[in-house]
Amino acid sequence: GAEAHIEDFDFSFEGPFGSFDQMQLQRGLKVYTEVCAACHGLEQVAFRNLSDPGGPSFPEDQMRAYAEFYEVWDPALFDGEGDFRVATPADKFPASSLSNAPDLSLMAKARAGFHGPYGLGINQLVKGMGGPEYIASLLVSYEEEPECAANMEVPMDGFYNSAFPNGGYPDECKYEDGSHKYPGSWIAMSQPLDDGWVEFDDGHANDLHHMAEDVAAFLMWTAEPKLVARKQAGLTGVLFLTLLSVLLYLTNKKIWAPHK
Ligand code: HEM
Repeated sequence: GAEAHIEDFDFSFEGPFGSFDQMQLQRGLKVYTEVCAACHGLEQVAFRNLSDPGGPSFPEDQMRAYAEFYEVWDPALFDGEGDFRVATPADKFPASSLSNAPDLSLMAKARAGFHGPYGLGINQLVKGMGGPEYIASLLVSYEEEPECAANMEVPMDGFYNSAFPNGGYPDECKYEDGSHKYPGSWIAMSQPLDDGWVEFDDGHANDLHHMAEDVAAFLMWTAEPKLVARKQAGLTGVLFLTLLSVLLYLTNKKIWAPHK
């Protein structure tokens, strides 16, 4: 049947030499803050991480000012009865405020752009398609409900999205063997983002497609902040092993030369 449809976005952090684009991560944070944070949480991320090298790398004072927008519950305050206080850099982002909206900290690693040849899911390897492609695709894939779902007695719960694989799907839109006539399914999240909804200080393009890419990149960073360091370490390892092989080859030749 028709699978979910995932678009192959080109992210700066793909490939062996890829790295996060600092300005894109900063724009992604803005989209997250102004739109997604209304429902979703980011419980694994501390405000101070926003200043870590390799990430959005905000200057210390900007990161502090950002944290101070938030209030956190501190159980130690008010003689142990607890009270709210202004957040500090050591505090984490708030949890989801909507109970059925999942925390997004690790979402980019929890989901994959599984859409390889024969559904093998190897596109992550061969095309670099993974969680961030899935998230960006999800945001741009709200579409008109297919005709088959138009005249149902009980309308579907949620919204038709051609990239969402795991939601409800009406029998009216299935073939006799149960396979789906159209890709995707119905998701409980209504379309959260559209053209021009967030404005960037640097005047960067803010059509839906660009913003979806920016917030997906930001969520890749929250899920794997050490991605760039890990790639660099891997590359150093490969170079070192290559050099070692050459030296061992030469040593080997020298040792055996008298016996030829
Ligand atoms: C689910 C991203 C804004 C409510 C999700 C999922 C992602 C996501 C990646 C998981 C989909 C899956 O399970 O594969 C985002 C982003 C947002 C955003 C990037 C901002 C641009 C919102 C807003 C709301 C919301 C504003 C509430 C009004 C939900 C709900 C679900 C969900 C209820 C669960 C859907 C289901 O399982 O059917 N979102 N979201 N989201 N989101 Fe959002």
